[in-house]
Amino acid sequence: MHIRSATVQDAAGIAEVQVASWREAYRGLLPAEVLDNLSPAHRGERWSSILADEMPRTATFVATEADIVGFASIGPCRGDHSDGELYALYLRPDRWRQGIGSRLHTAALAAMRDFGFADAILWALVGNERAFSFYRRHDWREDGAERIEHRPDGTELPEVRFHRRLDLPYRSER
Ligand SMILES: CC(C)(COP(=O)(O)OP(=O)(O)OC[C@H]1O[C@@H](n2cnc3c(N)ncnc32)[C@H](O)[C@@H]1OP(=O)(O)O)[C@@H](O)C(=O)NCCC(=O)NCCS
Repeated sequence: MHIRSATVQDAAGIAEVQVASWREAYRGLLPAEVLDNLSPAHRGERWSSILADEMPRTATFVATEADIVGFASIGPCRGDHSDGELYALYLRPDRWRQGIGSRLHTAALAAMRDFGFADAILWALVGNERAFSFYRRHDWREDGAERIEHRPDGTELPEVRFHRRLDLPYRSER
């Protein structure tokens, strides 16, 4: 398994992972119909345009074996640009709990540090206990903020915000 920066050629592979991960992780949290209707092709187009023209202080990483098995993306916090945000961290379900998420997380945090962010946030779907455990293990803490994310398909997703200082050492550094 290898971790590297994503290129535009990775768009379809990232989209496949994102849809497979959503379908498994969000089953029971989102309506089945919404999960069934997710389109890797549509997501792939979105990723192509994101990766073809990355915004300042944003980065996307992929974990690769023969194929892409996971990805992470970071950039300025969408509300307050002085903080970094972990926008996404998704693995193919057959690769969960094998340490790959932790390695992508390290790459994502290192990039945020390199971009000069001192603090980072992320939003996680209420009920996604697997992710909550992972982030708490990596020293993220819920900071009390909540929001309802309105998806284009009409679904409303309750999310909570986690915060982490970026000058804390990674677990692997201790
Ligand atoms: C969340 C996710 C990225 C974690 O990556 P991962 O590679 O599975 O996690 P790791 O193997 O690196 O786990 C690191 C630590 O996190 C915690 N953890 C991870 N998965 C866990 C689980 N299912 N239950 C409890 N703790 C868990 C453990 O402390 C674990 O250390 P350990 O295995 O030594 O006990 C991955 O499970 C995933 O893609 N999930 C679906 C998508 C998702 O929810 N993404 C986050 C959106 S906000």
